[in-house]
Amino acid sequence: MVSHSSNNRGNFATRLGVILASAGSAVGLGNIWRFPTEVGNNGGAAFILVYFGFVLFLALPVMVCEFLMGRASRSNTVGAWKVLAPGSPLIVVGFLGILAGVLILSFYSVVAGWTLDYTVLSLTCQLMGEQDFAQVFQAFVSNPWKPLVTMLLFLLVTHWIVVRGVEHGIEKYSKLMMPLLLLIIVVLAVYAMSMPGAEAGLMFLLRPDFSKVTPGVVLSAMGQALFSLSVGLGCLTTYASYFNKETKLMSSALSVCLIDTLVAVMSGFIIFPAVFSVQGVGVDAGPGLVFITLPYVFNMAFSGMPLLGYLFSGLFYLLLILAALTSSISMHEISTAFLTDNYRMERRRAARIVTGACLLLGIACSLSFGPWKDYTLYGMTVFDWFDFVSAKFCMPIGAMFICIFVGWVMPHSEVRAQLTNWGTLPVRLYGIFRFLARWVAPLGVMIVFINELLA
Ligand code: PFF
Repeated sequence: MVSHSSNNRGNFATRLGVILASAGSAVGLGNIWRFPTEVGNNGGAAFILVYFGFVLFLALPVMVCEFLMGRASRSNTVGAWKVLAPGSPLIVVGFLGILAGVLILSFYSVVAGWTLDYTVLSLTCQLMGEQDFAQVFQAFVSNPWKPLVTMLLFLLVTHWIVVRGVEHGIEKYSKLMMPLLLLIIVVLAVYAMSMPGAEAGLMFLLRPDFSKVTPGVVLSAMGQALFSLSVGLGCLTTYASYFNKETKLMSSALSVCLIDTLVAVMSGFIIFPAVFSVQGVGVDAGPGLVFITLPYVFNMAFSGMPLLGYLFSGLFYLLLILAALTSSISMHEISTAFLTDNYRMERRRAARIVTGACLLLGIACSLSFGPWKDYTLYGMTVFDWFDFVSAKFCMPIGAMFICIFVGWVMPHSEVRAQLTNWGTLPVRLYGIFRFLARWVAPLGVMIVFINELLA
């Protein structure tokens, strides 16, 4: 994916490589696990509409800004501020990104670990047949050590790829895996929509009830849009430092947004029809929602052909892990690139430090579903806090300052040159981008925060 050239900073080899790496970072558990969870907790269709608004008017312009800052500075998330805004206190935004990246990777690895366990359960035929899947899930996550083992495994694979495999591994298998995952999602969505009781789920997704839109719901939609598109913490700044001069920043960002939104919406169309056709599972079941409802879908879809059921569900969870991996390596890369660039640290050593930190924090997140579930602050466990601080605080703050910087502080000529590839691309969308980055995105974040504080 990244080919390292003589200047020791790599370049993506192809346009497809750029889109795949960025889409690989964007598409992950955020779409298939976090999106349905948030939709379920925040009332359905109205949340989705607000979410679309944030994708278009906030996350997309932030993505363009991150691409631009990364390619202009050829540096990591902290380095980019050093190069483009020397001596400015804005460097704090870079550090906030590092912090959020580590927090996210910690709880992300826990959920990816659950996925790993579900892959094994599927392939060993333990997820088929009459069972209470809510209980299966609860028993697994509250076990003190099993989820720790799967989390550790996931983190180690992430570590391994970051240290040595990025160039040759991910691009190759992403080309195969991403389309396969999409295909399976479409098949499952079509099936789920034909399950008994599915209409109620479709209504939940399609008929907005705006009375449910509270300031908290708006904050959640904003957090989800930023989380899902991996923006606000400089992850894509780091990736864009590997872009070459021909990369079209705006159209690449648009493609990534489209792919990511499509996957999120389709997973909604799998989960909610299924939720409503299964007794005893509520839409607000929380982080376990996907792990509880999907086994029911597999069971019903393949009740006549169990063997196919094992295979299909095993493949689904496997592909989900791979989607999670392409995201987790991008999160890991934020801090690893920072340590190697800024402290001239050897890549292997830098990666070890990052993995070690995520492991310790991940253990706390994992235990907060079991032995530590009663340790709460304002009703939230460690896991909830990590999610809250990163998606609803660090990412929006980062997104706001990134837009303010590119919209107001960076020389206009430089921004324009980057977005038009030095005058070789048409400028049609440039005016819209500038307006969004200068006004809509930063003001939007401020209003949401003020609204939430006053609520
Ligand atoms: N966008 C990823 C997902 O939806 O799963 C999660 C993520 C990746 C968040 C990278 C932040 C990040 F820097």
